[in-house]
Amino acid sequence: MNFISLLQKWYKINKRLLPWRETLSPYNIWISEIIFQQTRINQGYRYYLDFTNRFPTIEILAKASEDEVLSSWQGLGYYSRAHNLHFTAKYVVDKLNGIFPNSYQEIIKLKGIGKYTAAAIASISFNEKIPAIDGNAFRVYSRIFNSEKDISKSSTFKYFFDLIKPIMPDNPGDFNQAIMDFGSLVCIPLNPKCNQCVIKDECLAYKNNLQNDLPIKSSAIKIKEEKIHYAYFYHNNYILIKKRDNNSIWKGLYEFPLYEKEFGNYNNLHNHQIKHKLTHKLLLITISEIKIDEAEFYKIASKTKAIILNKNNLKSYAFPKPMENFLFYN
Ligand code: ADE
Repeated sequence: MNFISLLQKWYKINKRLLPWRETLSPYNIWISEIIFQQTRINQGYRYYLDFTNRFPTIEILAKASEDEVLSSWQGLGYYSRAHNLHFTAKYVVDKLNGIFPNSYQEIIKLKGIGKYTAAAIASISFNEKIPAIDGNAFRVYSRIFNSEKDISKSSTFKYFFDLIKPIMPDNPGDFNQAIMDFGSLVCIPLNPKCNQCVIKDECLAYKNNLQNDLPIKSSAIKIKEEKIHYAYFYHNNYILIKKRDNNSIWKGLYEFPLYEKEFGNYNNLHNHQIKHKLTHKLLLITISEIKIDEAEFYKIASKTKAIILNKNNLKSYAFPKPMENFLFYN
């Protein structure tokens, strides 16, 4: 397939210089792929450097406390990624003698690693010919092959996986990353830059002028709304927080005391309304900011079994994104 060699040539010249591209270490590649699953390169770049600085090896990550790992994830959101990184680091160190598995079939068994991430690690670190198909790759392949298959269906994933796998070139890691860069820089979602595209003569969507209509994606997910009420009690520089210990998305993170309803019976009360989108839910959050005197503060702390925190120490605790925005940017 000619588009492959054209893309390889393009990548040699246009490859983005990124720190995780200077190593083949599966640990570093794994961390980078997890961070960049839900975070743009510009936003996540510093986090990658800070995270790998703080936890330079899988052994060090495995030994770290949950609070340390979660607080280093502050700002990135989707904390299940951090929980899974920690869990898998401990698993590899304790059960696999610290040796990261070296094949797609084994890597994909690790917690928190799906088909895309396993393919990215296997191809980049171990030269295995496996296509890494994420949203970018779906878009590029749908256009090259003028495919109207719905990319939210698993059958479409299999279709492209089976189509691309046998034609992967000898440097599969570079090829997968060429597709990522090409999808981010040229074959972008809206108004793709076809006039500067080196494979336009090979692109069936371009031939049919359908590049703006592809890929096809049905959004089958129903979004439910959920109300949450927090009370942000403070006295001087002190606030009350609690650790979430249940099995929800925010397990292990800190939050303010939760209440069934919004507050109405306090002086000095200010309600903040925040909308926070999750994949399947829209959270309608009210944070009632309430200034109280010392006696009342200690009474509520004891009644709610909350931790009394000096705001100078906020950085040592990881909060869910909406609370983090409230605390740091409000
Ligand atoms: N997005 C996710 N992984 C990436 C990588 N290895 N290079 C560029 N962008 C990416």
